[in-house]
Amino acid sequence: MKIVVIGGTGLIGSKLVNKLRAHGHEAVAAAPNTGVNTLTGEGLAEVLKGASVVVDVSNSPSWDDAAVLKFFETSTRNLLTYEATAGVGHHVALSVVGTQLLSESGYFRAKIAQEKLIVQKSSVPYTIVHATQFFEFLKGLADVSIVDGKVHLPPVLFQPMAAEDVATAVGRVAIGPPVNGIVEIGGPEQFRLDELVRRRLASLNDPREVIADPKALYSGAKISERTLVPSSNARLGETRFETWLAQSTANAHAA
Ligand SMILES: NC(=O)c1ccc[n+]([C@@H]2O[C@H](COP(=O)([O-])OP(=O)(O)OC[C@H]3O[C@@H](n4cnc5c(N)ncnc54)[C@H](OP(=O)(O)O)[C@@H]3O)[C@@H](O)[C@H]2O)c1
Repeated sequence: MKIVVIGGTGLIGSKLVNKLRAHGHEAVAAAPNTGVNTLTGEGLAEVLKGASVVVDVSNSPSWDDAAVLKFFETSTRNLLTYEATAGVGHHVALSVVGTQLLSESGYFRAKIAQEKLIVQKSSVPYTIVHATQFFEFLKGLADVSIVDGKVHLPPVLFQPMAAEDVATAVGRVAIGPPVNGIVEIGGPEQFRLDELVRRRLASLNDPREVIADPKALYSGAKISERTLVPSSNARLGETRFETWLAQSTANAHAA
């Protein structure tokens, strides 16, 4: 099966392309540096020829409110239009658990707009995968949660997962039938958000203090105890945080 992975050079996309190829599929990594740009439409008609499935795991290069909204709206609109013309049978998009509850955040308003286009404005059958945060994103989360030099995070429930497990789950969705709805995926364990970011920073010898602050925002939005955790029927990844951390520390030392 020909499966085009938009954002196929990124964190999730590159792992997904490898996994699909290992299972015998013709997986094509599509991104600006492979000649495919979903913002301008460059290369889209060519790459979609003969494709059965398109998986969109792209992300905006800028997370500025206006830029990210423009990215997800324009690229999703272009993609869906070209897919309909090419006769693509399944559009899979990666989004985030709790997206609908996070409209105070510019980034999540853009993800809401992306999902709306897929659900309401396109004839292409689809599956939206809602993943929890990636372990790989914990440091990035600290970086965007700084107030007066300290990391402020609300001590809410948190169930992140390894990027490897995200790619496995998205791959399974891609080779299955469209559900025309949302599939939730998450990690195997629950933590407190501040606790896990603190552990990650400690493993990196990053001296920044992490403050459990019930009033702190997540990506600019107020959140509550369960906003970031998936429902009980979510598909769970296998990799536990400590296993991932040991591996990532070993990889950093080897590099
Ligand atoms: N971070 C989290 O914890 C989390 C949790 C749940 C869901 N998600 C979602 O997961 C998705 C993927 O995230 P990621 O961290 O894997 O992203 P990433 O590593 O930043 O990769 C982004 C990919 O998008 C490509 N791209 C950028 N502009 C493009 C354009 N105009 N046309 C085509 N491709 C373009 C990039 O190509 P170049 O490298 O050539 O620029 C790259 O391959 C995002 O949609 C995000 O919302 C993230």
